[in-house]
Amino acid sequence: MRALLSGGMVITPSSRVRADILIDGERIAGMLESGAKVDVDQRYEIDGMLVFPGFIDPHVHSRDPGAPEKEDFAHCTKAAAAGGVTTILDMPNSMPAVVDAESFEERARQHEDVAHVDFGLWGLSTGAENLGELPTLFKAGAVAVKVFWGYYLDRSTRALVYEPGGIHADALIPPPDVGELLEVCRTVARLGGVLAAHCEESSILRAAARDLGRDVETYDDLLATRPVAAEAACIALGAELARATGCRFHVVHMASGRGVELVRQAQQKSIPLTAETCPHYLTLTAADHAALGTTMKVFPPIRDEEDRESLWRGVADGTITSIGSDHAPHTLEEKHSSLANAPAGVVGVETLVPLMLDAASSGRVGMERLAWILSEGTARLYGIYPRKGALRLGADADITVVDPAATWTISGDRLHSKQRFTPWDGQTVRGRAVLAFLRGALVMQDGEPVGQPRGKLVRRANPQVEET
Ligand code: DOR
Ligand code: ZN
Repeated sequence: MRALLSGGMVITPSSRVRADILIDGERIAGMLESGAKVDVDQRYEIDGMLVFPGFIDPHVHSRDPGAPEKEDFAHCTKAAAAGGVTTILDMPNSMPAVVDAESFEERARQHEDVAHVDFGLWGLSTGAENLGELPTLFKAGAVAVKVFWGYYLDRSTRALVYEPGGIHADALIPPPDVGELLEVCRTVARLGGVLAAHCEESSILRAAARDLGRDVETYDDLLATRPVAAEAACIALGAELARATGCRFHVVHMASGRGVELVRQAQQKSIPLTAETCPHYLTLTAADHAALGTTMKVFPPIRDEEDRESLWRGVADGTITSIGSDHAPHTLEEKHSSLANAPAGVVGVETLVPLMLDAASSGRVGMERLAWILSEGTARLYGIYPRKGALRLGADADITVVDPAATWTISGDRLHSKQRFTPWDGQTVRGRAVLAFLRGALVMQDGEPVGQPRGKLVRRANPQVEET
């Protein structure tokens, strides 16, 4: 089957050119001068549209298996397709967690039955406890391993334990200490992988909670119990570990201006430190809590205008390499609890691209930069480039076509996730993904997923692992 996307403007991180894209089967077979005559089975006339390498969301908690009341893989990949995302990277902390090659392959098999987009899998580092499994995880093709800095884990499920008090020590895996993390970094460096960290140092969080001396009641209380220092301390230590070992250390969901400064300083010294932020940190501030309530409760928390501005500067100057949604759904009932008790996490995979397109149309960020930060840069970081993240000959024909002029309103009711609520409900945005192709097949048209599940696992290409 051959198809032609004709008349669009092709956006790459370094250029925009009018060109037609020829798809043959699952691959890109050519970039042709616009209007070139070719024989194809199907033709899409896309004059006035922008053509991006399929967008990638590197930070999705599918909750599958383990918490089907919150989300499952079929729903979150449908939501991804609807929003113009053609590959997601699934976080390892579903239950059971992905901690070794066996759980990795098992998860891949389960997901392939229901996936509407392609997916990579994260592995979980539990410190010294599964250090010996990291080579097998990378060998299996894990895109990166993640450590939840300072968190206890449930020994049987490897689920995060937010309140270890009262649970028997035998039932818990204690948080890795810094020496253990140094060893994890050494191992990941040797394997040529990436270690990513949830950066909120838990002993600082505990001290801050003690200082407050009562339950969280207001959003200011929440910010006081999750201070910037908790994120900054992890990033500063992470930079030292990366410097000492050569390990590529990636800060996920960075939320503070101080974080941006620390990452920028480390990069200036050529330390292999990279960072991700999320749409909620770029579009919302603490002031929105009055209107949005617990819908916007997320960890690390959404902070002030100054942090938001610093994060945008980090996006613009390249300090931030990647933007992920941190799609972390909870049920409406759970979210309807008090600010202290409601679980943290936003529904986000479907709104990632629309919010970033809207930011581009208001001049916050260039369209070319989006091609990097939502596609090529992310694909390179996680070792899936140039199969993903590139509109070039032989690459997977994953393509997102955008109407830059479409003005429309985000509505929770119309989301494809199991959870149909969003902090951006009722917000009018400019720019919309109108077509998405996954390995040559149409998977989304006008914001609706189309076709049967055909998503497959994409494994990290990992030369160092092959050699060992
Ligand atoms: O708010 C959050 N929710 N932050 C995280 O890092 C984890 C996530 C979840 O899994 O609920
Ligand atoms: Zn997350």
